[in-house]
Amino acid sequence: MTDGKIPTVKLGGDGPEVGIQGLGCMGMSFAYGPVDADASRATLERALELGVTLYDTADAYGAGENERFLSPFFKAHRDEVVIATKFALSIPPDDPTRRVVRNDPPYIRQAVEASLKRLDVDVIDLYYMHRRDVNVPIEETVGTMAELVREGKVKQLGLSEVTAGELRAAHAVHPIAAVQSEWSLFSRDIEPRVVPAARELGVTLVPYSPLGRGFLTGSFVNAETDLTADDFRRQQPRFTGDNAAANAALLEPVRAVAEAHGASLGQIALAWVQQQASVHGLPVVPIPGTRRPTRVEENVGATRIVLTEEELALLDPIADQVAGDRYADMRFASAGRE
Ligand SMILES: NC(=O)c1ccc[n+]([C@@H]2O[C@H](COP(=O)([O-])OP(=O)(O)OC[C@H]3O[C@@H](n4cnc5c(N)ncnc54)[C@H](OP(=O)(O)O)[C@@H]3O)[C@@H](O)[C@H]2O)c1
Repeated sequence: MTDGKIPTVKLGGDGPEVGIQGLGCMGMSFAYGPVDADASRATLERALELGVTLYDTADAYGAGENERFLSPFFKAHRDEVVIATKFALSIPPDDPTRRVVRNDPPYIRQAVEASLKRLDVDVIDLYYMHRRDVNVPIEETVGTMAELVREGKVKQLGLSEVTAGELRAAHAVHPIAAVQSEWSLFSRDIEPRVVPAARELGVTLVPYSPLGRGFLTGSFVNAETDLTADDFRRQQPRFTGDNAAANAALLEPVRAVAEAHGASLGQIALAWVQQQASVHGLPVVPIPGTRRPTRVEENVGATRIVLTEEELALLDPIADQVAGDRYADMRFASAGRE
């Protein structure tokens, strides 16, 4: 860490240097209960001061609202930030509550123009396919994304929730800079195939929900009783019913490691994800989400924690014991397509 800032790593083979922890911005507009615009703006500024440079959004977060919200921050710091956004979860005009996965070229072209407009920037630094539509060949989707690079609308390409095979096929069409998938002490299904493929191809891994959507911090146990009525986590099998209490009990080893380091549970969860970079030999840039400046300080503090082999061994069995899938509808995950 220099100048109080976190270390950096290259995003993709020839991409920009980014802080080794990014910031997930989804919750600033959507999904995780009441929003607080002032606290979120302060969080963005504090993150940048600490060396966080990769900011993650998507057109689907609040149906464009998240991109619009972030735009003034991005414009004020255009040369310091790396803007990552995504397409693929389209909202049918007749039912704004639904999401339809679209990877077809006309849709991508329409989506990128809409994102550029909402963000009010000339170019998107990292443009992800958010979800895979298996009815469209991945080569066709990435072919269109590559055209956007050639046209100067997008700098680098990313894929979210893809299989190793899909990543390889895509990379053969155009270099993929980053794969974004859920990766945490609770969610490790990408390790056998996706992670080795990313390492081999020089792709950076961007773990989303590295705090297990907040569950790994111990800040809630049962989403149905502890979170507000509109919170997306109330629909998730891991955080409800009998699963919630069973999964909370799995945090005991995390608590023990946290005590040994004088750290919080969340910091140990983040240190574990970060350390997968050396375990698996590839660049890893987790994007924990928060709307609070003090929490971004805490989360960034995790980049200084190094877990011992014994601690890694203590944490290793947790994921296999987690009760419940990571989505209510597992078509949203890549795991079933491997
Ligand atoms: N590609 C995809 O399909 C996909 C899916 C989900 C998410 N994402 C991206 O990944 C980002 C991160 O994932 P996520 O937000 O789902 O989950 P996460 O980062 O695992 O957890 C976020 C939750 O943890 C809480 N939190 C953060 N820091 C904390 C701390 N130090 N102590 C206690 N609680 C803390 C946040 O609450 P506060 O905000 O109140 O602090 C929020 O409720 C998102 O913002 C989004 O950009 C991508």
